[in-house]
Amino acid sequence: MQIQGNVFIVTGGASGLGAGTARMLAEAGAKVVIADLNESIGQALATELGAQFVRCDVTSEADGQAVVAAAQALGRLSGIVNCAGIATANKTVGKNGPHPLDAFDKTIRINLVGTFNMIRLAAAAMVQNTPTAKASAA
Ligand SMILES: NC(=O)c1ccc[n+]([C@@H]2O[C@H](COP(=O)([O-])OP(=O)(O)OC[C@H]3O[C@@H](n4cnc5c(N)ncnc54)[C@H](O)[C@@H]3O)[C@@H](O)[C@H]2O)c1
Repeated sequence: MQIQGNVFIVTGGASGLGAGTARMLAEAGAKVVIADLNESIGQALATELGAQFVRCDVTSEADGQAVVAAAQALGRLSGIVNCAGIATANKTVGKNGPHPLDAFDKTIRINLVGTFNMIRLAAAAMVQNTPTAKASAA
């Protein structure tokens, strides 16, 4: 994959795995869009890396569309790395009773539905890209 000069979205790019990915891509010459809920650290990292920050809740269709639009405005959107997520640790049944359903629901919503939301929107944009290289003959 050609990283240099191409555009990549990193969800959850303000922290942890996403921040590391955003840094690696920027150092390899990519134009990076950091899409994250956390505006303060996301914007600070974007400024440091010469990237663009877009505040985004990955579970929102409108936010996802805005991220993809911002990425396409920078050039050829070539990839998305989904790192936005939360971790919850509860037993199915603990000392205080059954696992809270709302915590499970929220985790599924962000980690699963949110990831798919961003994949589908970015993919819909990327299928419009003009192919740049021939697949080699088998
Ligand atoms: N760090 C690890 O070793 C590891 C291992 C396995 C799985 N994971 C999972 O990978 C994900 C990322 O881990 P991390 O260590 O980088 O976590 P992290 O907390 O450092 O970073 C997660 C980022 O996602 C953002 N975020 C959360 N909800 C969001 C939403 N709805 N929309 C947009 N952004 C949102 C947060 O603001 C944060 O910047 C988590 O779900 C975590 O459980 C992490």
